[in-house]
Amino acid sequence: MSTIRAGNIATPLAAAGEAPVHVHKGLNDGLTNYGDKAFSRYLRQSFAKSMGYSDEELSRPVIGIANSASGYNNCHRHFPELMEALKRGVLSAGGLPMDFPTISLGEPFLSPTSMKFRNLMSMDVEEMITAQPMDAVVLVGGCDKTVPAQLMGALSAGRPAIQLVGGPMMTGNYRGERLGACTDCRRYWGKHRAGEVSTEQIAEIEGNLATTAGTCAVMGTASTMACIVEALGMMLPATAAIPAVHANRLRAAEATGRQAVWLARQGLKPDHIVTPNSIQNALRVLLAISGSTNALIHLTAIAGRLGIAVTPHMLNALADSTPVLVDLKPTGAFYMEDLHAAGGVPAILRQLKDLLHLDCMTVTGKTLGEVMEASADDWFDPAVIRPRNEPLRKDGGLIGLFGTLAPNGALIKRAAADERLFEHTGRAVVFDSLEDMAARLDSETLDVEPEDILVLRNAGPVAAAMPEAGYIPIPAKLARRGVKDMLRISDARMSGTGYGTIVLHISPEAALHGPLALVLNGDQIRLSLSQRRIDLLVDEAELARRRTTLPPIPALPARGYGRLYQQHILQAEHGCDFDFLRHVAT
Ligand code: FES
Repeated sequence: MSTIRAGNIATPLAAAGEAPVHVHKGLNDGLTNYGDKAFSRYLRQSFAKSMGYSDEELSRPVIGIANSASGYNNCHRHFPELMEALKRGVLSAGGLPMDFPTISLGEPFLSPTSMKFRNLMSMDVEEMITAQPMDAVVLVGGCDKTVPAQLMGALSAGRPAIQLVGGPMMTGNYRGERLGACTDCRRYWGKHRAGEVSTEQIAEIEGNLATTAGTCAVMGTASTMACIVEALGMMLPATAAIPAVHANRLRAAEATGRQAVWLARQGLKPDHIVTPNSIQNALRVLLAISGSTNALIHLTAIAGRLGIAVTPHMLNALADSTPVLVDLKPTGAFYMEDLHAAGGVPAILRQLKDLLHLDCMTVTGKTLGEVMEASADDWFDPAVIRPRNEPLRKDGGLIGLFGTLAPNGALIKRAAADERLFEHTGRAVVFDSLEDMAARLDSETLDVEPEDILVLRNAGPVAAAMPEAGYIPIPAKLARRGVKDMLRISDARMSGTGYGTIVLHISPEAALHGPLALVLNGDQIRLSLSQRRIDLLVDEAELARRRTTLPPIPALPARGYGRLYQQHILQAEHGCDFDFLRHVAT
C-alpha cells in the first residue's frame, strides 16, 4: 500500500495494483459527430498523433486536468510546477494526462467581484469535462471561488474526479511581526484609517503581506474550502494545508495524479462520495475551524448540484455540538503553515471522530473511518489544534439567523464577533448602496455613534453580485476615537479573512424588496444570538406604508453574461447558484 507523508502524517492510498472494474474509454470517449463514427475515431487518433503520442500512450486511460492557472491569478503562479508533478503521477500509474485551461478567478483582479463569475467557471468546467474525452478529471484550483466552481462543475458532469489545491502562502514579516494575507492586510489598513500607521509604513507593509505563491495564509475562504473538501472526501487526506511552496505540495500533486488513474479504472464517481452525510462532515469541519462564511454559500451550491439540501437550520443544529478547535486567524493567532505543521485536517478529524459519519466514501477508495484507522500517527500540536476537551469554544463558529429582517436567513461568524454585541439593540445608520457608503462613511457630518448599527443594502446577488463588502469599515471619525467593532449588517458577503460583529447574506436581498429595503435611518434593529434572530423593530402598518414607496426591481442588462446572471441567480440560501444549474431529478 502506498502512502503520502504530509508533515507528520502518513496517509494510506488505495492500492495501486487493484484490478480495474471499469473499462476505460480513453480517447474514444464522446466522439465528434461527423455522422460516421469510424471516421471520427480515425480523425481524432490522427490529430492526437500530431502531438507526438504513440499508439501505446493513446490507449491509456485519459486523465483530464482542469488547470486554472492565469497571469491574473497570483495565488496560482506555481501551477506549472504543480502540473509537472501531477502529470508525473498520472504517467507513473499508467494514465495519459491531458490538461486543459479553464476560466481562472483571481480574487483581487476581478470586477465587480469574483462571485459574479463562479457559476460561469463552473459551467466552463462542467462543459469541458463533458465535451472532451477523459476517464477521470483532476481539478486544480485554490483561490477562493475556483475550488467551489470546479467541484460544482465536476459534480454536474458526473465523471470520476479528484481535487488538488495549490496550498496556502507562507507568511511574511514586517519589523519582527508575522504578516499573512489577508487578515493582516485589513488590520493594518484599519490602523492606517485610524491614523496609527503612516502612508510610508503602509507602502512597506504592502510588499510583505503576500510574499509567496499560494492562497491567503489564514483560514480565509480558500483555506476553508480546501479543509472542507478534504473532509468531504474529494481530496487526498492530509493535503489541504500543505503550503504552496513546500516539497510535500509537489508530492501531493504526484499522488493525486496516481489516484486519478485509480479512480478512472474503478469508475468511482463523485456522487458516491458527496452525500448528505459527507456534507454534514464538511459542515462539522467548517464549524470546528471557524471557517469562512463564504464556505456555507459554496457548500450549499456544491451540494445543490446533487440535490442535497444545506440550510442555516442544519448549520445551527450542528453548531450546538461542534466545538471550535482551530486557533487560526482571522479569529485566532496562527496561520495555515502552522496548521500544516500541527497535523493538518487529519488531526482535526481525529478530534471530531465521534461526531463524524465514518462510513462516507473518499477518493482513496476507502471510507473516512478506514483512512483514519490506517494512520497510526496521532500526534498534533495542541497550541494550534485544541484537544476536544479543551476547545476554544464549546459551540461552532458560524450561526444562521432568522427574523423579521431576514425571513429566509442570514449568517454571522460568532467566533469573530464581539461578545458584548451578541445581544444588542441599536439605531440603524443606513447606506443605500456601495456608492452611498463610499461617499458618506468617512464624512465628519455622518450621524453615527459606536452603539449604532451600520446597515448596507443593495449589495446582494441581484443588485451587485454580492461583493465582499459586508466588512463595513468603522466610520473614520469613530475609528479615530478608538472604536474597533460595531454591529454591521448587509445583504453582501464578507471575505473569509475578515472579522468583527457582522451579519451577512440577509435574504431576500433589498433589491428584491426584502425587509432590508424598508429600513430607515433611526429605526431600531435587534440582534439576539441566543435566539438566533435579527429583527427590525418597526410595526407592520408602517412597513406596509414603506413598501408602497420602494424603487422598482433592477432592470435586466441588455445582453451578455450579465443578463444571464441576473435572470438566473438565486439567493444565498440556495448557494447563489443559477436556477438552471441545480440538480434535476431524472
Ligand atoms: Fe487568492 Fe486570497 S486572493 S486566496
